[in-house]
Amino acid sequence: MAELSGELSFGPVLKQELAAVAALEAVAFPPPVYPVFFFRQAFDLWPQMFWVARRDGHILAYLICGPEFSNRQRLSLMSFAVDPQTQGQGIGKALLKAFMQQLTEIAPEISEVWLTADPDNAAALRLYQQHGFVQTSEEPDYYGSDYRRLVLTAQIGAKSC
Ligand SMILES: CC(C)(COP(=O)(O)OP(=O)(O)OC[C@H]1O[C@@H](n2cnc3c(N)ncnc32)[C@H](O)[C@@H]1OP(=O)(O)O)[C@@H](O)C(=O)NCCC(=O)NCCS
Repeated sequence: MAELSGELSFGPVLKQELAAVAALEAVAFPPPVYPVFFFRQAFDLWPQMFWVARRDGHILAYLICGPEFSNRQRLSLMSFAVDPQTQGQGIGKALLKAFMQQLTEIAPEISEVWLTADPDNAAALRLYQQHGFVQTSEEPDYYGSDYRRLVLTAQIGAKSC
């Protein structure tokens, strides 16, 4: 990617950006990854909960949250990734902060956000901790045997960075 020097901006994804989000997903995670079909559905279902970070027209990061049908006060942070070429530059932290700050306006009923993370994902765990997430449980076989995931929860309105 060419050197990008413009201002970083954050907000809901646009339809024409979905292919770029799918391309980012494919390089940010090992397979299997979400296909563009999933991103189109997330765009249709939760347009205000699907945010990106942009610079000079490039998509540098995205996050998707999904509301819980059985508990309207809870939101699941389903996926979150930064382009590997720009990881470690504070973009993930800035995107999550911008989204969490807007959340009380987008969805005032939400009081809790939860997610799962790989216990070895130090960057993700550090970032979540900075935004008030604490470990509430863990599942030793989240995706099958020997696939441990930590469950982290943040209270909305509680003090974070
Ligand atoms: C996890 C991820 C979203 C973090 O985004 P990022 O833009 O790279 O992170 P930031 O630069 O904003 O850094 C956030 C914090 O984590 C720290 N951090 C970054 N990389 C780290 C690492 N490898 N180990 C420990 N801490 C790390 C940073 O120092 C920063 O803390 P600080 O403010 O105290 O300095 C990004 O690395 C990513 O997309 N990884 C692959 C996909 C993924 O794992 N998604 C999360 C799934 S749960």
